[in-house]
Parts: sequence; structure tokens; C-alpha cells
Amino acid sequence: MAERPYIVGNWKMFGTRAMLSEARAIDRAAQRYMKVEVAVAPPYTLIHAVHKEAEQIGVGAQDCHPGEEGPHTGDINAAMVADAGAKFVILGHSERRQDHGETGDLINAKIESAIEAGLRVILCCGESLETRDAGQAEDFVLGQLRPALEKFEDPADRLTIAYEPIWAIGTGRTATPLDIEAMHKAIRNLLDEVYGAERSADVRILYGGSVKPDNAREILTTPEVGGALVGGASLSAETFLGIVVAASETEDA
Ligand code: PGA
Repeated sequence: MAERPYIVGNWKMFGTRAMLSEARAIDRAAQRYMKVEVAVAPPYTLIHAVHKEAEQIGVGAQDCHPGEEGPHTGDINAAMVADAGAKFVILGHSERRQDHGETGDLINAKIESAIEAGLRVILCCGESLETRDAGQAEDFVLGQLRPALEKFEDPADRLTIAYEPIWAIGTGRTATPLDIEAMHKAIRNLLDEVYGAERSADVRILYGGSVKPDNAREILTTPEVGGALVGGASLSAETFLGIVVAASETEDA
């Protein structure tokens, strides 16, 4: 399996400069848990400031425009977030797909631009409750991923997948360990098919959706779970670090 567990905070549209103290606290504490790779994706406005605070943690963006510099009012491209200090970008989050109508083609174009700018990509996938209830969750998720995976010539150190069932995001509801294991195994099989088993092993598959300190251990010890993408619980250093500690304990186990 690939490297250390990866715990990523997705701050979404939360945070002003007052949040820098949380970033600092996360960074300083992360230095004690070197067996865990820790990162945060603040809003664009804080990327540079968090980057300047960060000695240990990785800093990323939550999205980027797929194009070159140009007349696109309000947009920010991959080269710009890299210049601000981002080392990765989250792409295809369900909130972007829903709120901004992002299609697979658009996400694939963003992947290309992110790779071009030297960014790592956390590629999100996940099904709605209707799709799950219709028994189509796996087909749907693998269908989201398949065309995107082809964009990565060398997935090692470039690609992380985040499986986030939409019905578990911000709802307090998590998928059962069996649901998570089944989906992560299906994703792993797809990665094996596309990249071959050896290169697939370098790609971590994170779980996301209401991960909290008190359920982190169970989720992080589920087979094929390589870490967590954390929304709400990443907004306070204390709760986020609770998840980091759980991840470090799974490494000791
Ligand atoms: P949540 O968000 O932890 O608040 O459910 C996860 C995500 O959307 O990345």
C-alpha cells in the first residue's frame, strides 16, 4: 500500500484570517505525527497565508479554472494557485458538481491544467442516495472515475482519489465500514485495471463524509482506506487533530 495515511482538511467556504491560528496549531501539532501526511485546502483567499504558516502540512486549493490566464472574471487557474503556494487541488467535489453544474469533461480539463501546473490532484467521486438505493452506486462511481484516470500518465505522487457518498457529506451520517470497503475495493480494482497493480498501489483512496474524531479510527482501519477528506471537522484544530491522532494510532496498530 502507498505510504502514510493522508488526512486532508477541506475548509470549503469557511475562514477569514482569523482561521490562521487554527492552521498554525494544526501545523505545529502535525510535526509530532510524522507518520501521517496532513494537509488543508483553505479558500483561495487564505492559500498564501496558510502556505507561509505551514512548515509541516501541505496546502492545497479546492478548485481551479481549467484555462490559461485570460478574461474570465472571478476565476483562478491552476498556475495561480500553485504560485500562491498550493501543492494540490481538490477536483470534482460533489458541491462543485451540484452548485456549478460541473461535468466530467470540465473536470477532466481541470485535471489536465492541474498536472500542467505541477499540482497533485485529489479527485472526488461519490453517489447520491437515489443512486445507492437503486443499486447503482458502484457503476456510477466507477463511471465518474474511468475517463478521469486516463488523464494521469503517471499516477504516482500525482493522484489521490476521495470517495465521498453525497448523502454522507455534512449530514452526520457515514457509510458503514462494509459499504466503504466494498466501494474502495471496486475503485482499487479499477485502478489496477487502468494502471496495473504496481502503479495502482501508489494511489491512495481517501474516504470523506462526516469523518470525526470518534469515528475516524473505524473508518481509517477499513481495508483500502488510505486516509480521509474532512470538511466540518477540519475547521477547528482540536477536532481535526483528533482525526490525525486516530490516523497515527492506526499506523502503530
Ligand atoms: P464533511 O465534508 O466532513 O463536512 O462531511 C466532507 C467533504 O465534503 O469533503
